[in-house]
Amino acid sequence: TGTVAAAVEAFAAGQPVLIHDFDDREGEVDMVYPAGDVDSAAVSRLRNDAGGLICVALGPEVADAFELPFLADEIDHPVAESDHLGYDERSSFSLTVNHRDTYTGITDADRALTISRLGEAAADPEAVDFPREFRAPGHVHLLRASRYGLSDRKGHTEMGVALAHEAGRPPAAVVCEMLDDETGEALQTEDARAYAEKHGIPYVDGKDLIAAFT
Ligand code: 5RP
Ligand code: ZN
Ligand code: CA
Ligand code: ZN
Repeated sequence: TGTVAAAVEAFAAGQPVLIHDFDDREGEVDMVYPAGDVDSAAVSRLRNDAGGLICVALGPEVADAFELPFLADEIDHPVAESDHLGYDERSSFSLTVNHRDTYTGITDADRALTISRLGEAAADPEAVDFPREFRAPGHVHLLRASRYGLSDRKGHTEMGVALAHEAGRPPAAVVCEMLDDETGEALQTEDARAYAEKHGIPYVDGKDLIAAFT
């Protein structure tokens, strides 16, 4: 469809896109960028205009090379019992990291460094000494896409990685939920569409993205 093609084109050019998942899933719109293109201004936009949790979704081959687990599999504590999510069978959360050249890790410049270096690292993961470049815990959440991609899990994690693939970019995408500043709820889709229109950002629905990519 036209909007999916526009999203692929924008992503290939390092521009953000908005992705709504499904009304019967989270029902959320995430702002998504190729990780390698994230600078301080992009982090500022993610925290001010999106407002959710700033995460980097990595493809399974990257996560394997970096030995990144699913966090839920690693926590030896009752809070990590399965069956907790209302909208999916499992969480994609992995570790949190900072690039080692950051100081606190939270400033726009620090998070931009961590995120953009993750994007570079994802381009050739086998060549990267991950623990030498990054430390955990940190201030950027890593997400691990399903090994089987969109056929197995239809989260923003897998959609971001699939969009990167279609756009010819390394499998590393920043995702951050659009929240409503007034209500604190997920931003309504009509408001997210209005934001996209105002800023010239492509807006895509999960069902259209999946139809185009699978
Ligand atoms: C992390 C999240 C977001 O929903 C993000 O979109 C990734 O999760 P998912 O793949 O489940 O959609 O919970 O902030
Ligand atoms: Zn979520
Ligand atoms: Ca805001
Ligand atoms: Zn999501």
